[in-house]
Amino acid sequence: MASNYRLSDPESVPSPALLFFKDVIGRNIQRMIERAGGPSRLRPHCKTHKTREIVQLQLAAGVTKHKCATIAEAEMLAGVGVPDVLLAYPLVGPNCARLAKLVAQFPATSFATIADHARGVQQLSDALSAAGRRVPVLLDIDVGQHRTGVPPGDAAVALYEQIGRANGLVPGGLHVYDGHNHQESLVDRRVAVTGFFEQVLTLRDVLHKKGLPVPRLVLGGTPTFPVYAELTATFTDCELSPGTCVLNDHGYGSKFRDLCDLEPAALLLTRVVSRPTATRVTFDLGYKAVASDPPAGKRLVLLDFPPHEPVLHNEEHYVVECAEADRYVPGDVAYALPTHICPTSALHRFAQVVVEGRVVDQWEIVARDRMLTI
Ligand SMILES: Cc1ncc(COP(=O)(O)O)c(C=O)c1O
Repeated sequence: MASNYRLSDPESVPSPALLFFKDVIGRNIQRMIERAGGPSRLRPHCKTHKTREIVQLQLAAGVTKHKCATIAEAEMLAGVGVPDVLLAYPLVGPNCARLAKLVAQFPATSFATIADHARGVQQLSDALSAAGRRVPVLLDIDVGQHRTGVPPGDAAVALYEQIGRANGLVPGGLHVYDGHNHQESLVDRRVAVTGFFEQVLTLRDVLHKKGLPVPRLVLGGTPTFPVYAELTATFTDCELSPGTCVLNDHGYGSKFRDLCDLEPAALLLTRVVSRPTATRVTFDLGYKAVASDPPAGKRLVLLDFPPHEPVLHNEEHYVVECAEADRYVPGDVAYALPTHICPTSALHRFAQVVVEGRVVDQWEIVARDRMLTI
């Protein structure tokens, strides 16, 4: 596998380095659009890469609706001219006023957010009405992950009515994220989604009958992307919000065979820095360069490396036991596929951009910061 990704001149790249493969990213964007059934059905989440240039590639491909989790990501999206930004995170406290500032600072972008509690709705309403602004708020629906949201039912209707009455807010639709649906088989994921989707559609119909607008349903992440694409193919109010698959990683790639057309587009370039024992190889790939998620031992795959066991992961060191360790000396280059790319990319200020085996550019992971200007 490394042969598809090897650099022709790795000596020009200090390690550890995050590599983004531009052509692969472009192919993944096209495949996401094809799977969604058109760019207008996609609302990709930018938390995976937090990078302006990837958003610009998506915009150039016709994807105008985008999703994010932080004010900094929202500012990055608006800053590159995204017309429609959904900040899909419950805003509370001072972040409500930050949203009002964003709305004022980027008049060419329409912003929306989500809420799942009366107090959050009130705080948003206070901040936006004080700033003389109006923002669509999607009701966050809990369909089983129990992370945020309210279950479809009477409490959801009451909260949506509160959004409809609140100064500075307008009902924006329903937000449905099912990050717990990681079943390996597509059939099992389909069964899981159909188990709750009817209730979401019923809620939408009840709200319509009450005269409340439900302009959009924003659905899922990468694992259930194919399920929603199929289920809602003829719906005009549904948007699909995968994030990770634009870069992909070992976690999703090894688990979801049905998504194997989406290729890994981000790797880490690492070097052997020490050979402390006859059977040990130490790389410069500590957990400040590759995310400590999931548990140690499973955080990355060293491509085309002989059988080995990870034995130590420190801030700047990744140590493996390997019977063939004597094949390696300090300075040797290796490529690693992270298990979870989203927190890994956020560990790097820059990604080195590779085209046809050469680093041609570097892109700033600009929204790794919590705050840009707002
Ligand atoms: C609310 C929300 N939407 C969409 C996504 C994208 O999901 P995935 O990473 O599976 O592509 C996430 C991921 O964390 C999320 O939290």
